[in-house]
Amino acid sequence: MTFQQPAHSVKLPVQHPLVDGRTASAPLIRAYRGDRPGVTPVWFMRQAGRSLPEYRELRVGTQMLDVCLDPALSSEITLQPVRRHGVDAAIFFSDIVVPLKLAGIDVDIVPGRGPVLARPIRTLADAQALTPLSPEALQPITDGVALTVSQLGTTPLIGFAGAPFTLAAYLVEGGPSKDHLRARALMHSDPETWAALLGWAADASGAFLRAQVLAGASAVQLFDSWVGSLSVPDYEEHVAGYSARALTPVRDLGVSIVHFGVGTGELLPSMLAIGADVMGVDDRITLAEANRRLGGVAPLQGNINPALLTAPWSVLEKHVREVLASGSEAPAHVLNLGHGVPPETDPTVLTRIVELAHSVDTHGINPG
Ligand code: CP3
Repeated sequence: MTFQQPAHSVKLPVQHPLVDGRTASAPLIRAYRGDRPGVTPVWFMRQAGRSLPEYRELRVGTQMLDVCLDPALSSEITLQPVRRHGVDAAIFFSDIVVPLKLAGIDVDIVPGRGPVLARPIRTLADAQALTPLSPEALQPITDGVALTVSQLGTTPLIGFAGAPFTLAAYLVEGGPSKDHLRARALMHSDPETWAALLGWAADASGAFLRAQVLAGASAVQLFDSWVGSLSVPDYEEHVAGYSARALTPVRDLGVSIVHFGVGTGELLPSMLAIGADVMGVDDRITLAEANRRLGGVAPLQGNINPALLTAPWSVLEKHVREVLASGSEAPAHVLNLGHGVPPETDPTVLTRIVELAHSVDTHGINPG
């Protein structure tokens, strides 16, 4: 009899769902590790949130960041799309700016706009004044994750964090921006401030990821949503090292790491090279093309065009089948959108996509 070494690490607590067996052979975890379960696992970025009436009802009279820091509410909202759609994963309901808030930054999420800072971080003195995120401050996250996992059974929870560049795009600008010009200028004009800022952001994101995994998350996703605005040389020289540093705190835990950004067709190989296991792909290139650019070595996640969620079902169904066929060329595939669920999406459409994905035997798909 051969003894198979578990893929996860012995450093995970014994009651962690990967260790006690609840999620170790879940379709999502198998696919993230390069295997092909009989049907393609599926979840949706931003599956919790405004597309769900039960979410909108729960959010009446509350502030987004207060909800993120209330374990009962963050856990309930995380579970809503799992109950409704039967997706193969939950993603913890929080936000990429939550670690910034917990580290003492005056940040708010303005409805319809996004994260806004009272004081942008633009000088070396600003960056050096940032204080590290302490493990104690992460207690509401640890509690929210533990409460969620206790109710998820065999469905894995994905933990997440924003990557240093995407966080810097908000920190330097002070709010959402179109082309992230201030951050891209700072990277070249003031390397010392850039290093201090990205190093701090990497450590905050790393601590946020580690807390979620130790509390029960079975995989993590690093969101570098806005990194597609960078050239490959700028990414490799000024960003990649900090993204790798954000992953350092979870490396020894052995959970699968997904890396995603928007408009990253040129950056995919560099984004895999920071030490990701799975690449998230947006809808600007096909999965077959992404697989070719990556040399066929990584499981892929993606990439239904969110714009087609409002198309007639026959159009959307054809597209989803094409995505599944294209994904069958990669070593493994997790179905998702090319970016987040738009708030105006009819949630019944998402449920229908899950049913479709679960009805297609991917072993029988003809690639191409
Ligand atoms: O279901 C999930 O995916 C989990 C929850 C989640 C949220 N934000 C909840 C949220 C996740 C993973 C995020 C990550 C996040 N936050 C990213 C990376 C992912 C991406 O979409 O690219 C980014 C760039 C942010 C920053 C941010 N926070 C934006 C741009 C916004 C939207 C502003 C708006 O109102 O349109 C937020 C707020 C936010 N985060 C909402 C949700 C559900 C909307 C808040 C509300 O319901 O009022």
